[in-house]
Amino acid sequence: MSTAQLIAVDQILSVLVVAVWGAAAGFCTAVIRRPGIRRTALIATALVAAAILATGARVATAIALATAGWWFAAEKITVALPLTVVPALATAVVTLPRLQRGREPAALPPFAAAYGALAGVLATTVMSYPVTAAGVTGIVALFAGACAITWAVLTGRRLDRTRVAGVAVLALALVWALAGSWSGGGTVHAGHGVAAAGVPVSRLLGPSAPDAKRFTLTAREAAVRLPSGLSAAAWAFNGQVPGPTLRVRQGDLVEVTLRNELPDEGVTIHWHGYDVPSGEDGVPGVTQNAVKPGETHVYRFRAAQAGTYWYHSHQDPSVAVPRGLFGLLVVDPAEPIEQDHTVALHTFAGKLTMSLDGAGPSDELIPASIPPGGPVRLRIVNTDSVSRTIGLAGVPYTLAAVDGTDVPGATALSGQRLSLAAGGRYDLAFTMPSGPVRLHVDGHPGLLAGGPAPLPPPAGPILDITRYGTATAAPTRFDKNVTWVLDQDVAFSGGLPKLAQTVNGKAWPNIPTPTVRRGETIEITVVNRGREDHPMHPHGHHVRILSRNGHPANGLWMDTFDVAPGEVWVVALKADNPGMWMSHCHDLAHAARGMEFHLAYEGITTPFDVTEANHPA
Ligand code: C2O
Ligand code: CU
Repeated sequence: MSTAQLIAVDQILSVLVVAVWGAAAGFCTAVIRRPGIRRTALIATALVAAAILATGARVATAIALATAGWWFAAEKITVALPLTVVPALATAVVTLPRLQRGREPAALPPFAAAYGALAGVLATTVMSYPVTAAGVTGIVALFAGACAITWAVLTGRRLDRTRVAGVAVLALALVWALAGSWSGGGTVHAGHGVAAAGVPVSRLLGPSAPDAKRFTLTAREAAVRLPSGLSAAAWAFNGQVPGPTLRVRQGDLVEVTLRNELPDEGVTIHWHGYDVPSGEDGVPGVTQNAVKPGETHVYRFRAAQAGTYWYHSHQDPSVAVPRGLFGLLVVDPAEPIEQDHTVALHTFAGKLTMSLDGAGPSDELIPASIPPGGPVRLRIVNTDSVSRTIGLAGVPYTLAAVDGTDVPGATALSGQRLSLAAGGRYDLAFTMPSGPVRLHVDGHPGLLAGGPAPLPPPAGPILDITRYGTATAAPTRFDKNVTWVLDQDVAFSGGLPKLAQTVNGKAWPNIPTPTVRRGETIEITVVNRGREDHPMHPHGHHVRILSRNGHPANGLWMDTFDVAPGEVWVVALKADNPGMWMSHCHDLAHAARGMEFHLAYEGITTPFDVTEANHPA
């Protein structure tokens, strides 16, 4: 079983164990209340046996998960199992034999097992990883309280109602306070002010030059109409979706003026995957204030690296990007080829669309005319919040670049499929044959060049890009190690518990900010304990992929890497771009629900604040 499957099975079992122990305890009480009814005793026996079996299965999945990695099972092994297995054993030894002999069973052990199982569910859904002293104290206190009350009821002690209520309120208050400290604890501004004195991020700007390539992007309301007839209201740059493709030559200075003509939404421009100076990164509340309606802002940076990138607003991005405030940024190499095309993938009106070379988005088959014989590059950009499976049929091709960086030793592919992360980019390269070529994207009719032909989609395995190309030397010595354990659980934010997308059990703004020093190399271990993909995107840096699920990787450079459920990615980040940086999941809804934090450099501060007006996620 894969780790993802184990996580799913364990989740089902964890709930099942609570239900079966609860039922077993209930029937044991019924046997005590109305002794001598044979059928009740039989059902009680069967339920106790089933509960013990289910507990055994849970022990097995928890151990298997711990073998896959301690992050996946820490709270299960340390909290859920002891609190369930000990009472389960007591039930087997004390309660079961009495039931079988037709005697009055001891009902406390099965109740305790049910509470223990429930405590285990709490440990996973409220505490997650890591296991904290406060978390364990709160959960064990609840467990002990429930056992004590049940014991009092079973032994017929008269309970003073007001006292019970008082104790319950106190216990809940204690748990609330503890939960707040284990999943909360930050300020609205975590990560800011970590260096009290230093260089403000607003001074880390790109160069201005008279010969810069100049663009103006004006955000305003627009409408999208798809060839199929569907339409959607949009926010667009210069009235078009995607926004204009900014194409510059490697080495150019770029100067982009953002103008906001939206009625009442702030806008910024973030250069996704482009490692610009921090002050040009376009994150409201971190590197600038959101540009209000009627205002303008100028971005400047040198296009030092060639490749495929994109830009989008970072103000309320989970709303703004789906609505259309994005476009492509292509930095051509010194000698570009003739047949160099861009394909932007985006969902409008609920339909996956493709935009070829900046044309309006289409949800129908797109014809492309590419003359045979020459080299072709297809730059595919996933601007949605979910990954896409793509494949090229009709020609062998190479995955020439990932996230803007050329892949060394890219070998020919045919028949395989590729999974492109949300926010990620793949450049496919091939020589145009005399016959047809078709780009397939799951959920879209595709793009067809070289004349009509059915060309079925590739059905081969998904390429493991972390082992594609040739291995290149990657860092092996690290100044710091950071672990990000991703999950969905209840975490405090703004003083209230919420179901959040969490990092190490915490949600924005409570996720601690790693602080680095210029020149350091950081090893980052990213673990996905949840049930959804998390395309992780650190701003301002590309990371090198060192391993995936324990298998050494080829050192690919990426800026958006998709960590699937149950996966463990280890990446290296070289701290070579001082600033205050955002790091987040590029499933933008996940970022909005907490999966967002910062990477700070020593000595860099920010004068900006996350406020009502500045909403980076
Ligand atoms: Cu594409 Cu922080 O974003
Ligand atoms: Cu996510």
